[in-house]
Amino acid sequence: MSDYRVYGWAMSRLEGKTAIVTGAARGTGEVIAQMFRDEGATVVATDIADGDGIVKLDVTNEAHWDEVVSGMDQVDVLVNNAAILHMGPIERTSADAYRQVLDVNLVGPFLGMRAVVGPMRASGGGSIVNISSIDGLIGMNGISAYGASKFGLGGLMRCAALELGRSGIRVNNVCPAGGNPAMYSQWFDQMASFMDETAAYSANRGIPGEVPLECIAAAALFLASDESSHITGADLPVDGGAAAGVVIEGLNSLE
Ligand SMILES: NC(=O)c1ccc[n+]([C@@H]2O[C@H](COP(=O)([O-])OP(=O)(O)OC[C@H]3O[C@@H](n4cnc5c(N)ncnc54)[C@H](O)[C@@H]3O)[C@@H](O)[C@H]2O)c1
Repeated sequence: MSDYRVYGWAMSRLEGKTAIVTGAARGTGEVIAQMFRDEGATVVATDIADGDGIVKLDVTNEAHWDEVVSGMDQVDVLVNNAAILHMGPIERTSADAYRQVLDVNLVGPFLGMRAVVGPMRASGGGSIVNISSIDGLIGMNGISAYGASKFGLGGLMRCAALELGRSGIRVNNVCPAGGNPAMYSQWFDQMASFMDETAAYSANRGIPGEVPLECIAAAALFLASDESSHITGADLPVDGGAAAGVVIEGLNSLE
């Protein structure tokens, strides 16, 4: 039997580490912040929205990043989780809406990385975990701004991983197929007219159904912890196999 303690892994997987989590007032970010605390980390939970114990940080604001990071003794982990969604076909997507999505979902993580690289380097390394999406691995109609932002995050992640690896800083993406439904609540009414199609979206996976937020947070925890010390530049899908392809159940019954 393997004795993983030879690797020096702590029983509390983030003991002694300090982490920044963006977009932590609700949804996935809130669960990540809680799980990280439960695993021994000191967590600076940030958001543009107000909330108990939440530090104000608009990820698009360079001054906010400077303020948050300069107030910390050490930064071992950054989780770039904050994002916004825009739904609608290209012809009905304004340039302003498109730019706003790129600003939050792609410029935000870049500013976060840039802010933490100095302190991480000074302390010998760290882990940057971006919460991307299945929409950063495969395309989908009606979400061009969001999809472009998440594919961009894949490029940023790869370049940063190669650039920072020799400083002991790892950079990886978690790619969930699902999250907090509140993110797309403004389109609920319109989506009611094609519920069968959206149900098929999560039913036609290797593992059908919604992905629990805890499973997304657990992937972020793994990438934040020293257990993943030789993993960098990677996409980790948490999608029940959705990015692997679709299931046609009848094909399993062929003789
Ligand atoms: N909801 C989904 O179906 C889904 C699917 C795949 C991936 N994701 C990804 O998961 C991550 C978390 O999303 P979620 O599902 O928890 O949705 P959510 O809307 O509940 O959480 C997003 C959080 O980001 C915050 N935020 C928005 N703009 C911000 C800004 N400028 N600065 C700081 N914070 C800001 C919001 O206030 C909110 O608390 C995102 O990166 C999202 O793209 C979500």
